[in-house]
Amino acid sequence: MTKPDTKEDLSTKIFVKNWSIYKKIIENDNMSHNAGYSKLKQIISYEMQRPFSFVDLACGDAYYSSRVLRETNAKTYTGLDISEQALSFARENFRDSEIRADFIRTDFINFAEHIDPGADFIWVGFSMHHLETIDKLQFMKDVREVLADGGIFMLYEPILLEGEDLSQYYKRFKVTFDKFWKGLNNEESEYLLEHVRETEKPETTRDWIALGKEAGFENAAKVFSERTGLYEIFKYK
Ligand SMILES: C[S@@+](CC[C@H](N)C(=O)[O-])C[C@H]1O[C@@H](n2cnc3c(N)ncnc32)[C@H](O)[C@@H]1O
Repeated sequence: MTKPDTKEDLSTKIFVKNWSIYKKIIENDNMSHNAGYSKLKQIISYEMQRPFSFVDLACGDAYYSSRVLRETNAKTYTGLDISEQALSFARENFRDSEIRADFIRTDFINFAEHIDPGADFIWVGFSMHHLETIDKLQFMKDVREVLADGGIFMLYEPILLEGEDLSQYYKRFKVTFDKFWKGLNNEESEYLLEHVRETEKPETTRDWIALGKEAGFENAAKVFSERTGLYEIFKYK
């Protein structure tokens, strides 16, 4: 069943109502956007030697995506997000780009209704972990359906350690947060910690790979771990 296009719950509230918190997180590079998106650029440059379409599911403000796609063969960009505020920044970030960019406000679970089949490259940054495991699998199956032959799907997502449960994950997140994260005041920190504690559902490295294989991808692999061990990038082909 299709979900409504304007979902608003704890998983989206921080982005829909308060983009400034996530903006500070990006500006302070607390989630290693810089290194992760550099890895994405490296893979795109190597794999996409011909004109290609790029789909960014839960694109946010597309700050990093818009820069990664410069000087690549990207011809079209489609960004989907639930937050109108984020999408308005995303439009700005593509304003002077030669890439034809479209933006759609929707719950990304419904992305297949908005994307033409035959997408060459589909990317999700820090967003699939809000889905239940069964929904992650369906999401990956849907991605496979809309990808072109030989197309690539990549994720940058939080990782559960083997044997770790969600409360242990949250404790590990909090230790990392206290040690590495910068730039948020007390109120913003509390808001962010509530978001992580109440809504994040990461998978282990092994399970992120297994889900891709179960969804039908022949190749599924981890291609990057960021410095704190919280986030990894996966590539499916
Ligand atoms: C952590 S941010 C990631 C933004 C960007 N992909 C990045 O790498 O920085 C999560 C984004 O997902 C969006 N989002 C959260 N839940 C969503 C949903 N159900 N459907 C569409 N977008 C959603 C938020 O509005 C936000 O822009």
